[in-house]
Amino acid sequence: YHFCVKCDAEVVKAQWNVFYAAPNSGASKYMLASHIFHRLFIENPDAKKLFTRVNVHDQSSPEFQAHVVRVINGLDLCINSLTSRPLLESVTDHMATQHFVRQGVSQAHFDVMEKILFELLPQALDEFNYDAWTSCLVPVKKAIVRGL
Ligand code: HEM
Repeated sequence: YHFCVKCDAEVVKAQWNVFYAAPNSGASKYMLASHIFHRLFIENPDAKKLFTRVNVHDQSSPEFQAHVVRVINGLDLCINSLTSRPLLESVTDHMATQHFVRQGVSQAHFDVMEKILFELLPQALDEFNYDAWTSCLVPVKKAIVRGL
């Protein structure tokens, strides 16, 4: 399976960690993640019903907030695993299983999520390097949706 080359991985990790590991970044991480879900439900209203278990009907509820944080932390885990192939394989396999067991989650949903990420990440990060991010995130997405 082709993941990104080390130099792209290092660019992506560095750009992400400036944002993610910044002191007091909690609020901006949460804002980015809830913005992603807000956009996902505008583009794909049907997807909302997949998240009833985590109380999507009240998106400011602690249950949905915790879900949003799990997802952004999942993205962080993928990004920070980019420089180790065995780690990245393990992380994406695990995430593939977590999504495979959720009835109704599709590759098309992940394509929409990808589109949204490539709109919102450049706004959140400095000097967003499209080429490096594309080489790294697209294969990660493919690895996660493989079984869907
Ligand atoms: C749950 C990550 C995209 C649907 C989760 C969990 C993580 C995660 C870490 C928690 C797993 C667990 O506790 O079992 C991600 C990442 C994504 C992504 C990193 C891409 C950047 C999507 C997309 C969909 C989706 C596009 C479909 C629209 C779900 C569902 C759950 C879930 C239905 C279960 C919610 C529940 O706990 O009931 N995701 N996800 N995810 N994800 Fe994703």
